Amino acid sequence: MSKVSIIGLGYVGLPLALLASKAGHEVSGVDLSEARVSKINSGQDPINDEYVQKNLKGTKLIASTNFDSVNSSDVVIICVPTPVKHDYQPDLVPLKAAVVAVAKRLKKGSLLIIESTINPGVCDEIVIPLAEKESSLGLNLDFYISHCPERINPGDKKWSVENIPRVAGSSSHEGLKRTVEFYETIIKAAIKPMGSLKEAEAVKVVENSFRDINIAFVNELAMSFTKLGIDVKNVIDGAATKPFAFMAHYPSVGVGGHCIPVDPYYLIEYARGYGFEHELLSLARSINNQMPDFTASQLIDALNEAGYTLKDSRVLVLGLSYKANVADDRESPSYKLIKILEQKKARLSTFDPYFPDKSTESDLASALKDKDAIVLATNHQAFLSLKPKDMKIKVFVDGKNAFDKAAFDKAGIIYKGVGK
Ligand SMILES: NC(=O)c1ccc[n+]([C@@H]2O[C@H](COP(=O)([O-])OP(=O)(O)OC[C@H]3O[C@@H](n4cnc5c(N)ncnc54)[C@H](O)[C@@H]3O)[C@@H](O)[C@H]2O)c1
Repeated sequence: MSKVSIIGLGYVGLPLALLASKAGHEVSGVDLSEARVSKINSGQDPINDEYVQKNLKGTKLIASTNFDSVNSSDVVIICVPTPVKHDYQPDLVPLKAAVVAVAKRLKKGSLLIIESTINPGVCDEIVIPLAEKESSLGLNLDFYISHCPERINPGDKKWSVENIPRVAGSSSHEGLKRTVEFYETIIKAAIKPMGSLKEAEAVKVVENSFRDINIAFVNELAMSFTKLGIDVKNVIDGAATKPFAFMAHYPSVGVGGHCIPVDPYYLIEYARGYGFEHELLSLARSINNQMPDFTASQLIDALNEAGYTLKDSRVLVLGLSYKANVADDRESPSYKLIKILEQKKARLSTFDPYFPDKSTESDLASALKDKDAIVLATNHQAFLSLKPKDMKIKVFVDGKNAFDKAAFDKAGIIYKGVGK
């Protein structure tokens, strides 16, 4: 068993730290946020996650805002954010800061693993030079660098940090061997060794770009089929009966979260630096970024059909999370939609049970009162039991295609989905 330091205790780092501790390693967690550290040390879950809640009880994990544990760690794993800036350029500031802080304390013989999502080339071109400079240690002589991208899917009851297969790449054969051996002590799943750090980095960006492109395809179909009068959801369900070579993805109000709407930009920008334009990836990003505008246009059309205008209509947006039943609103399309509706002078209210402080309404019952229209932006379980006959509204826009249109027709409410 090893001494392990995990840097960044968020959606990725905290479940990993709890798992490594459960597996018997001596684990220290490091995070810049004092509030997060004190919550973890007092047994409170800072990310509202079932896996974390279950495993925080009785854990030996100790969290801290200082990096002292790195001095004696055999394995150091970096799990800090890798967002994009306002102009969609990769923002490696948190990663570089973490590498510098770790490298200054790295001991001889240690293994430094990056779990944060990064484009091919980041380890070779940024992490390794920085780590060698700040540590004054020699790569593959005194320490190893590996990349083992995390694939966690928060809120997923079947696939957790414990059973999702991994890929790993390293700076040397010995580094790769140690990395695979380490993960074998904590996860119950296959670990595929990759030929290089770049290959391991590319795997994660490719997985998330694959998803972004497939979602862009169905989002484009949704916009087209709205004009053609075809129900896109029924068509996708029909196509999904083919037992091979089709994978169902569904359209919606937009793509959110810290991964899918972010990671493709890392590859786009890196390849651009080498003179290659990822046209398909850029187009997919652009289509998915249009979906809040499309949802707003669905609302405007429906209100017009009902004899109303968006200006001055009382509109409730249900859901701020980027996906159902998680307290994560990073890159959520709800915020883009809200901005569009505010600019068009709708009288806007919002409600999300996971974000009481960011909602304008205090509870669902009062949120539903005195509204002309509702837009469902997140299909939280709490919203799915709503009955059209109990909604005193003119228009319902279903940004997740989660409801049955017929029930709204029956209640005399104009229903519009995304492509249905
Ligand atoms: N959220 C996901 O579902 C998911 C899934 C797979 C991969 N990833 C990737 O994992 C990485 C982390 O994502 P996350 O969702 O856990 O982020 P997060 O924001 O939930 O957590 C990151 C934590 O790192 C801390 N931090 C920031 N800079 C730091 C520094 N220099 N030193 C120490 N701590 C620092 C922050 O305070 C925060 O608590 C990202 O690269 C992301 O793309 C995320």
